[in-house]
Amino acid sequence: MTKNILITGGAGYIGSHISELLLKDKKKVIIVDNLSTGFKKLINRKAKFYKANINNTKKIKSIIIKNKIDSVIHLAASLIIGEGEKNPKKYYKNNVLNTKSLISTCLNTSVRNFIFSSTAAVYKDGKYQVTEKSQLKPKSIYGKTKLAAEKIIIKNCKKNKINYGILRYFNIVGASPSGKFGLINKADHLFKNFSIQILKKKPLLKIYGTKYSTKDGSCIRDFIHVSDIAEIHAQVLNKIDKINKSKILNCGYSKGISVREVAEKFLEYSNQKGKIIKAPKRKGDLVKIIAVTKNLKNFIKWRPKFDKLDVMVRSSIKWEKSL
Ligand SMILES: NC(=O)c1ccc[n+]([C@@H]2O[C@H](COP(=O)([O-])OP(=O)(O)OC[C@H]3O[C@@H](n4cnc5c(N)ncnc54)[C@H](O)[C@@H]3O)[C@@H](O)[C@H]2O)c1
Repeated sequence: MTKNILITGGAGYIGSHISELLLKDKKKVIIVDNLSTGFKKLINRKAKFYKANINNTKKIKSIIIKNKIDSVIHLAASLIIGEGEKNPKKYYKNNVLNTKSLISTCLNTSVRNFIFSSTAAVYKDGKYQVTEKSQLKPKSIYGKTKLAAEKIIIKNCKKNKINYGILRYFNIVGASPSGKFGLINKADHLFKNFSIQILKKKPLLKIYGTKYSTKDGSCIRDFIHVSDIAEIHAQVLNKIDKINKSKILNCGYSKGISVREVAEKFLEYSNQKGKIIKAPKRKGDLVKIIAVTKNLKNFIKWRPKFDKLDVMVRSSIKWEKSL
């Protein structure tokens, strides 16, 4: 049984939700975060927090030993697609080199499970429905660095008999039903941008790229609620620990929703004063991609709880209002 879990990036959007859930499950949660994009406000009061960079091997090693860490959930990363295109060195350093440093620090310690948050951005664009065996050909620098990190994790974990769970998330949205955790960072995030706009008097919902060969010209994504993704982490971690096996899994709902459909759903909450604005497409954006999740559903007994578009939109707006 897993007991003492180290979450890197636990002061971030997804990490705060995973912490909340694991603490509810009576696990000990230890958070390492340098607060580069995270927030003190998102650190669960019941978790133990260390402000540190994941590449600080000495400090991380002592945290692992002191807290008898059995499992690591590695979320700390740089993740803005556009920023990665402009500053590839930063992305290579934080996502590849720092992951290498972290996994090396875990070797020959009490750590026996390692979960890594990867992304749909590792897949070749234009495939639409992707399985874990689909062609890997990242279009963005961000995707490239995540794929390189996956490879480093697999190699090191195999050699050192650490179970790994590589979770390729699709697009994470929404906020915790408890109202305590959600997305604060104003990074380029569709639901965040739309939620901010919808609270204005005259909301302008910008769609980047409207001439793609999709049903309505906008990009298609597989959006998944952050509470569902948190549940996947808890279950996958328990399972890899129990059966002593490693797994790569897509995490989504297998439902393609276009950006325009999302915009229209948001507009339902804007008293008819909102407008959709067409903007040029962005470099690095995938056109359409959704997850095949057969493997995930076979591996754990997970079923989505928050998969209605309306639920995801309302959850995001409610959080934005609370800020
Ligand atoms: N949000 C999404 O839609 C999405 C989709 C796919 C994958 N992911 C992955 O999920 C993970 C978490 O994303 P998020 O949305 O919660 O982002 P986030 O920015 O809210 O969280 C990342 C956290 O990591 C911390 N961090 C970054 N570099 C660090 C370092 N070197 N040392 C210590 N802490 C560091 C940041 O301060 C932040 O708190 C990332 O690895 C990301 O690539 C996110």
